[in-house]
Amino acid sequence: MPIFDHFDFLAPLYETFIPPKDPQEMWRFADLPASGALLDAGGGTGRVAQFMSGKANPIVVADLSCKMLSEARQKDGLRPVCSHTEKLPFADETFARIIMVDALHHVCDQRGTVDELWRTLQPGGRLVIEEPDLRLFGVKLLALAEKLALMRSHFLSPPRIAELLNYPNARVHIETGSFNAWVIAEKQIKL
Ligand SMILES: C[S@@+](CC[C@H](N)C(=O)[O-])C[C@H]1O[C@@H](n2cnc3c(N)ncnc32)[C@H](O)[C@@H]1O
Repeated sequence: MPIFDHFDFLAPLYETFIPPKDPQEMWRFADLPASGALLDAGGGTGRVAQFMSGKANPIVVADLSCKMLSEARQKDGLRPVCSHTEKLPFADETFARIIMVDALHHVCDQRGTVDELWRTLQPGGRLVIEEPDLRLFGVKLLALAEKLALMRSHFLSPPRIAELLNYPNARVHIETGSFNAWVIAEKQIKL
């Protein structure tokens, strides 16, 4: 079963099971507020993006699940866009900030997705990819559970995600928490 069916099915209850969390960490890692647009790629119901309102403008939520996006549509200040992250309908260098939370392991083409995020990020901008940290035992169990649920998830460790960001104009570092890790890439301005 394709992944978007899972999320279409889960959408109305998604935030009951995965409630919004304190946004301070993401504000810090994404260096917000910022002047310019922010993209939440695979942003689903806008669970995370809702807290980015007022920190950048506009706040765009791109996701392939219409049902997840219809939840996002009910939140003030979000612009939902139905799209695969592998082929984003935005011009080069559109966004000052891009975040992707708990979604990279769900996309079919991770290489293509990261290339699209990088293409649409402005020079001087910042990309933050938050994922469960596969180096932790609890996350390995989660990865197994998602496989058993036929979710086609493909988790990468934070260093592997950082390798995907191996662009000549990228400055990349990793932050780690008790369950998640953040791979943070700054797009250098060409001199
Ligand atoms: C676990 S949810 C996370 C949603 C949101 N980022 C959050 O943290 O609440 C994963 C999301 O990725 C979306 N997704 C999966 N594959 C995608 C793709 N190729 N392009 C766009 N969205 C995708 C799903 O529809 C779902 O909304």
